[in-house]
Amino acid sequence: MRWQGGKGRILKPLLEVLQPLCEGATAYYEPFLGGCNVLPFIHHHDKIGNDIEPAAIAFYKYVQQGGAPLAYSPTKARYDLAKFSIQNNTELFMPLWEAFYIDRVSSYVGKYLGGWVEEKHQVKRRTELFDINLSNTTLYCGSYDSIEYKAGSLIYCDPPYVNTLGYASKFDHEGFYLWAHKQAEQSMVIISESWMPEELFTEIATIAYLHNGGSFRAVRSEKLFIPK
Ligand SMILES: C[S@@+](CC[C@H](N)C(=O)[O-])C[C@H]1O[C@@H](n2cnc3c(N)ncnc32)[C@H](O)[C@@H]1O
Repeated sequence: MRWQGGKGRILKPLLEVLQPLCEGATAYYEPFLGGCNVLPFIHHHDKIGNDIEPAAIAFYKYVQQGGAPLAYSPTKARYDLAKFSIQNNTELFMPLWEAFYIDRVSSYVGKYLGGWVEEKHQVKRRTELFDINLSNTTLYCGSYDSIEYKAGSLIYCDPPYVNTLGYASKFDHEGFYLWAHKQAEQSMVIISESWMPEELFTEIATIAYLHNGGSFRAVRSEKLFIPK
């Protein structure tokens, strides 16, 4: 699904790096699950997904529990209520999972809380949004550093990029660097980032992709890092 910094566009090369590292790992962790574009495609018997966005995790739990798909086109009034629900983390008007559904199908160019667009422009996702395989997966909602990580795991981190705006809270990159180093003492930690301090992290791969900006196209790249 479309998500700021979503990895759907580089899924294949990313899996070529991550899947072999999963063999023999005690568990696979994705503490920054976002649009859930990677974890469902990883083969492992013990997967753990987490994100700080309550509505996103509520939606994934709904799907995981076999909740019935929705396929309606939200009105502007319904979209505004959904946006209010997500921003205030409230289920006063609707369940959070439904608020997430409404945002995902009717937000401008798929941007999270990007503003309602008329039905004819709405993202054509509807039932497809519910087609996410979350078997063998435990879901958590909270900060990446609030969950327990089993030793010997593979931890794939896709945090907000340095200088990326738009997330609910300001991300503490320095705190994340320390945490990644601590985890690397007992597990394999792989990080997607545009830049990381080279005295602390080693770049292990660069994945080029074609960015479609509507009126222009450009070759961009995603990098993978490990703690030194
Ligand atoms: C670049 S996105 C992840 C995209 C995801 N890999 C995908 O392909 O869709 C970064 C995610 O980190 C989440 N996030 C931000 N701060 C966080 C924190 N402290 N703990 C956990 N998740 C956080 C955001 O909500 C966002 O979904």
